[in-house]
Amino acid sequence: MTASAQKTAPVLILLGPPGAGKGTQARMLEEGFGLVQLSTGDLLRAAVAAGTAAGRQADAVMKSGGLVSDEIVLAILKDRLADPDTARGVILDGFPRTAEQAEALDGLLAGTGQRVNSVISLDVEDEPMIARVAGRYTCANCGEGYHDLFKQPATADVCDKCGGAEFKRRADDNAETAGARLAAYHAQTAPLITYYEARGVLKRADAMADIASVAGALAAIVRQVTD
Ligand code: AP5
Repeated sequence: MTASAQKTAPVLILLGPPGAGKGTQARMLEEGFGLVQLSTGDLLRAAVAAGTAAGRQADAVMKSGGLVSDEIVLAILKDRLADPDTARGVILDGFPRTAEQAEALDGLLAGTGQRVNSVISLDVEDEPMIARVAGRYTCANCGEGYHDLFKQPATADVCDKCGGAEFKRRADDNAETAGARLAAYHAQTAPLITYYEARGVLKRADAMADIASVAGALAAIVRQVTD
């Protein structure tokens, strides 16, 4: 294969409102395809927990359900993209969320000869998303996700995956903040659907279906990019 014909590491984007299943599906694709999940929400929560200057600024914004400044998010993402593991290919979960972020991403990728290969819009109805995020909790030890209604541990209060007995909830997972997060999605992020459609890289998935069905639909899309 000539150098010019070599494939670059794939870049996939999962677009969708809070609760659409971006994190759930990104983790499954990570396991199934060896790609690296890059969640700007997780990176920001880590910065908040570490008490960095960026984390302190992001904290109040995240608790309000608004979007953290492009400047902070881009700096955090750029740092993470410099880690060697991302050379395997990445699934961006929760990024980009604004037109400015989408344009900045193109600039970052151009530096490594990469491009956005596929953008999957997880299509859902708004109302059920409030219940999905308000009922969500995770194992404090391994991060396995659970839900008050849809996915409880087989043994009450014991993590199925690691046996841990401590669980945590996100500070922004309540009905009021979830409403603000949905509004932010429609105002600032949903326009990216048209942006990527115009570039011919948009795919759509019915994310109201059960988790396994959505995973099957996404795997079929990702195979087209990674094969
Ligand atoms: P972020 O952490 O990205 O949160 P979000 O976008 O609000 O998305 P969620 O994590 O709530 O939902 P998800 O789609 O991942 O769903 P999940 O798979 O967990 O961002 C948090 C905050 O950080 C933002 O509000 C903002 O302030 C800031 N931020 C982050 N990125 C930023 C950026 N780029 N720019 C600016 N600010 C940024 O699923 C949810 C629940 O539903 C789970 O319990 C799951 O088990 C369940 N579930 C999933 N799929 C299904 C299904 N098909 N059927 C039934 N249940 C399902």
